[in-house]
Amino acid sequence: MTLGADENAPPTAVARREDKFTFGLWTVGWRAVDPFGDATRAPLDPVETVHRLAELGAYGVTFHDDDLVPFGTEEGERARLVDRFRQALAQTGLVVPMATTNLFTHPVFKEGALTANDRGVRRFAIRKVMRNLDLAAELGAHTYVLWGGREGAEVDTAKDVRTALDRYREGLDLLATYVVDNGYDIRFAIEPKPNEPRGDILLPTIGHALAFIGSLDHADMVGLNPEVGHEQMSNLNFVHGIAQALWHGKLFHIDLNGQHGPKFDQDLVFGHGDLLSAFCLVDLLENGGTQGGPAYDGPRHFDYKPHRTEDTAGVWTSAAANMRTYLLLKERAQAFRADPEVVRALAASGASELAEPSLAEGETWQSLRADRGAFEEYDVDGTAARGYGVARVDQLMVEHVLGARHV
Ligand code: GCO
Ligand code: MN
Ligand code: MN
Repeated sequence: MTLGADENAPPTAVARREDKFTFGLWTVGWRAVDPFGDATRAPLDPVETVHRLAELGAYGVTFHDDDLVPFGTEEGERARLVDRFRQALAQTGLVVPMATTNLFTHPVFKEGALTANDRGVRRFAIRKVMRNLDLAAELGAHTYVLWGGREGAEVDTAKDVRTALDRYREGLDLLATYVVDNGYDIRFAIEPKPNEPRGDILLPTIGHALAFIGSLDHADMVGLNPEVGHEQMSNLNFVHGIAQALWHGKLFHIDLNGQHGPKFDQDLVFGHGDLLSAFCLVDLLENGGTQGGPAYDGPRHFDYKPHRTEDTAGVWTSAAANMRTYLLLKERAQAFRADPEVVRALAASGASELAEPSLAEGETWQSLRADRGAFEEYDVDGTAARGYGVARVDQLMVEHVLGARHV
């Protein structure tokens, strides 16, 4: 039996490489240090992580520079660490679709990184990103995540937000130019988060980040890496946020995890805490394309933290749980869409009519104004009395999630 797999699990929903599941080294490798307690687990060797993830059916692994090579490591040792990681990738076939930079752990970044008041810190941060971009390109990554955990403030008067955004933009324009000039096939993905570790973080939500991206020199090279729990910390609907990111063509990557509503960043296993939302998310990603197929074909990246209570075996159990929950929800979402009763209920709700433009082909505001049926003779009361049957759709969805309907 594979360590962490459920021996009683039916042979469905077993992770395979084509499912494109990826994990950050820092997720399973989290030693469970929290603000109140020391580590409860020993460090994990990245090489072991690669082998374990491959056994569990994952497709790839991602990392911050410092997850692979501890901060301050000298060059020779850095090369050795990268080399043994590369060998593990070659042995297992795991890929590195994404990489990122740690601009938050070292105390040098305590006041910010790309937006630090101290110019020297900003220059150091940009160099740190450039250095790991070289490694990301070498390992074949096509996405580079920017999570600005320390870009923010606790005291509003001590950080000029408009000027900080100028520096954020300067940093991203410079890094995009670096990628272009080096001929790297890499795009950037900004990861919004409202707070934690800073009292308030810049680019706190999907919406803020989308607006910021529009101001960049290389806006086409910059998209989003939204994380489930981060939007929910602001009490926002993650599924709607993802739909809008897709609508803008900006869903470059995704961080999947679970969250119990607006509180600290929980980084739970995917679907744990917000199962119905996770169902709707999987339905959107897998069935929300214009032809009814996937709306997103990038890595399904899990950015979660195994509970602090767990030992190493529990780490791998929780890693497997992320993938299995995703696949079970994918099965349920496919059954939901294929259920004739659901099709009928959705038709009754008028869901498909939304795709029809409000004006007919060739119609203008003048012809609309001349259309008495649209206004003067419109059956306002009759339409107002209409029921949309959404309660039925809602319950059918819950029944599919509970496995109570078989089609
Ligand atoms: C969080 C963040 C981080 C980032 C990661 C990438 O949970 O606050 O998700 O885990 O995703 O560090 O830089
Ligand atoms: Mn998080
Ligand atoms: Mn994340």
